[in-house]
Amino acid sequence: MEDLTPPKSSLDPIEIASRDEIATLQLDRMKWSLRHAYENVPHYKASFDAAGVHPDDLQGLEDLARFPFTVKTDLRENYPFGMFAVPREQIARIHASSGTTGQPTVVGYTKRDLDTWASVVARSLRASGLKPGDILHNAYGYGLFTGGLGIHLGADKLGLSTVPISGGMTQRQVRLIEDFGATGITVTPSYSLSIIDEYAAQGLDPRKSPLKVGIFGAEPWTNAMRREIEDAFDMHAVDIYGLSEVMGPGVANECVETKDGLHIWEDHFYPEVIDPETGEVLPDGELGELVFTSLTKEAFPIIRYRTRDLTRLLPGTARSMRRMEKVTGRSDDMIILRGVNVFPTQIEEQLMTVPALAPHFQLELNRVGNKDEMRVKVESMPEAGVGDPAQELASKIKQVVGVSVAVDLLEPGGVARSQGKAVRIVDNRPKT
Ligand code: DLL
Repeated sequence: MEDLTPPKSSLDPIEIASRDEIATLQLDRMKWSLRHAYENVPHYKASFDAAGVHPDDLQGLEDLARFPFTVKTDLRENYPFGMFAVPREQIARIHASSGTTGQPTVVGYTKRDLDTWASVVARSLRASGLKPGDILHNAYGYGLFTGGLGIHLGADKLGLSTVPISGGMTQRQVRLIEDFGATGITVTPSYSLSIIDEYAAQGLDPRKSPLKVGIFGAEPWTNAMRREIEDAFDMHAVDIYGLSEVMGPGVANECVETKDGLHIWEDHFYPEVIDPETGEVLPDGELGELVFTSLTKEAFPIIRYRTRDLTRLLPGTARSMRRMEKVTGRSDDMIILRGVNVFPTQIEEQLMTVPALAPHFQLELNRVGNKDEMRVKVESMPEAGVGDPAQELASKIKQVVGVSVAVDLLEPGGVARSQGKAVRIVDNRPKT
């Protein structure tokens, strides 16, 4: 794989500034952001007042812990525009979550917010090893989802030649990567697996593709999956993180030269990790729930937003800004199976160690009698040889994760494919 390390001279100075400089900037901006939220969003005025805190109480960054959390239901209760902090006419863009499980969550951006978003995504794409003139195949969905349009903004800013293909029509994805000579691809890790399958279906070798780097996010994926994808395409695979409530893609990104977790663009998004039970702020290095406070957003300031994503904060390496470890999963996706906590990523890790199995999987939860059971739906590789890979996977899951599961071995193509975020869990248990 080619060395894609960006030259130091191409970085934003703040990416490699001293920790003191970063902290001074953060404190200034945090004071502004708390006041902006308090003065312009009735929800924040009410929640700060109820907690007995005022923006003036913030003297140092650690004082943020005195301010109340914001959760998804706060956003839903203020549907559609109640959390906006600027007059509606100043809103230049609206995005929303799909809302399949309830009221959609709506977020807004001013023109300046779109500029900020473009800058952090451009920084992310550069950290991934792309440079002006590269051809970017952007297979994140365009539309209300922030993936497609968010990446697009940053790609424009960095000076890439962007192919706004969006998700779906997998045959055409392969054709255009090849015909246009894409050097970078932005896509969910699960959909990239469908693209790899399609290369095989067309009798093409993805290792011969023009791609040099893939930038994968919007869903959890493991380092085992990284190795699989890097090997399949003979390219770098880096992790991009973000969420619409905080901005969209580009809140944090891995650096291609280290691939050791995602640098959080701390000059715009202030991270904390808390104990999800008590809400207490944990020291860096401890695993907990990631919480974000926006430092510069005008239209939709967000204060101490509980992401439900589980990770830990680590010191900077390739950049001065702190890193977050690869997200293990969302607390919502944690399955408690007969008392054992299981994340889909733990199953993915084991699946990747069984060469006769394809990397696609789905977990099905059923109630049998009064017991819960989990069935892992997987596919055999077309060229799978002898042995019993289903049994092998079940016993690895038992040994390493600590739960007994049934493994259903399906024909190639038997596991449902997604064109965006994969659906990992199908829960058939009766709702209580
Ligand atoms: O998924 C934004 C995005 C688009 C990020 C494209 C990266 C690339 P939402 O639809 O609001 O926004 O979903 C946010 O997705 O809270 C995480 O649970 C999950 N997620 C996003 N990136 C990662 C990642 C976009 N790199 C939710 N690793 C977040 C693990 C991720 N989970």
